[in-house]
Order: sequence, then C-alpha cells, then structure tokens
Amino acid sequence: MTIIAANFKTNHTRKSTKEYLETVSTFIEDNKFENEIYIFPTATSLDEYKTVPNINVGAQNAYPTQKGSFTGEIGTEQLDEFDVKTILIGHSERRHVLGETQKSIASKYEYYSNLGYKIIYCIGEPLEVKEAGLDQTLTYVWEQFEGIDVNYDNLILAYEPVWAIGTGVTATTSDISNVHNAIKEKIDKPLLYGGSVKVNNIKEILNVPNVDGALIGTASWNAVDFCEIIKISNNL
Ligand code: 13P
Repeated sequence: MTIIAANFKTNHTRKSTKEYLETVSTFIEDNKFENEIYIFPTATSLDEYKTVPNINVGAQNAYPTQKGSFTGEIGTEQLDEFDVKTILIGHSERRHVLGETQKSIASKYEYYSNLGYKIIYCIGEPLEVKEAGLDQTLTYVWEQFEGIDVNYDNLILAYEPVWAIGTGVTATTSDISNVHNAIKEKIDKPLLYGGSVKVNNIKEILNVPNVDGALIGTASWNAVDFCEIIKISNNL
C-alpha cells in the first residue's frame, strides 16, 4: 500500500490545519481509500484531531527529552498531550538550515526509537554531491545512516535530494531509481521519495520500482492537490 506524507514545514495555522484535516479525512472516507497517510503540521498546530484511522498526524521535530530546559523545543510531554507517536527525523532543512549534526540526529533517533515512535527518517545529498556522481551521492547517503539502527521495526525512510526540495526541480526517474535501488539492496524498509512531487508527476514517480510512496512539501499544503495526489496513488 502506497504511503503518502505531507510535510507542512512552517505553513498553516491551527485553524487551517483543522480545516485541511477535515477536508482530507472526508475525502478519504467518501472514496474508501486505504493508503497510509502521514501529516506533519507545525508544532503549534498539533491538537486532538478526529480523522479517519489511516491518517496519522506526526511531529516535524521534537527534542530527545520528556521535558526540561530546551528553549524553543518540545518533548514527549507535549507530544503525549495529543497522542502523537510519529516523528520526522533528519529532514534536510533541519540538517542544512537549522544545523543539526549527524550526532544529534542519531541521538534523537535513538531516543524516539526506544519509545517506539513511528519514525520517518530522511536522507539526501546536496547539489554539489549529486554533481560529483552516483558513487559520491551514495557515500554521502550512507554517512547519513551513521548511528541509525536501520533494523528498527517502526521505520520508514525518505530519500529527499536537497537540490530537488522546494525548487520545482524533480529528480529524474533514473536519479530516483539509482539511489532507491542501492538503499533497498541494503535496507529492507519502506522508502519514500521527496522533492518537488506534484499532482502532475506523482504517478510517474510512484511507478518507479522501489518507490513505496512520497513525502510532499509544497504540493501538500493545498488540500485539494493533496486529495488529488491520494486519489492518483490509489488508482495505480
Ligand atoms: P517540496 O515538495 O516542497 O519539494 O518539499 C519536499 C520536502 O522537503 C518534504 O519533506
């Protein structure tokens, strides 16, 4: 079953997240779609949402703590309030914009995997590495698995090349299959693709062997587009 995930990043309010979830939930219910859907709103938009069971609301980020003195962060005490048991770890914006190191990502991963959270773990190379070739790309990607227990049961992987995120430049199907095939050879976990996935390219991307779903930013922020993507993924 295809996995479709929406990463809201720094978009939507609590009010618009509620409306969005109602729209998507009703759409799934009316059409009896069964795929696994993950939605990652902002931390301020986490709430007790009523959705169809196949929608899972997760956190874009949290600190590896229950509570404490970590200004600007949230921990499991805040996630538990809304029964959030899913987290995105290793996203390229957290690595490259917010400066998370592989060491801090690995300790976050260890903390949340010990608690049994569903983890969507992101990897992906920047443009200069892609331009250096496939060997360099794979070396870079393997380094992003340092300290990560890839045998963890509740793990979904997402390959998101940095140069394709929010740029409108989608990786070609051969770019995607080169990396997906290499990862799948070593790690037997669901593997999503992310990076400028849109209504008009989702079908082609999901048809690439070893692509188990998509992690979508920009195109997911519009509920109508996201519903269309869910529909296309169900009709494959
Ligand atoms: P875009 O779909 O906007 O390229 O973002 C992808 C992404 O970063 C999802 O996590």
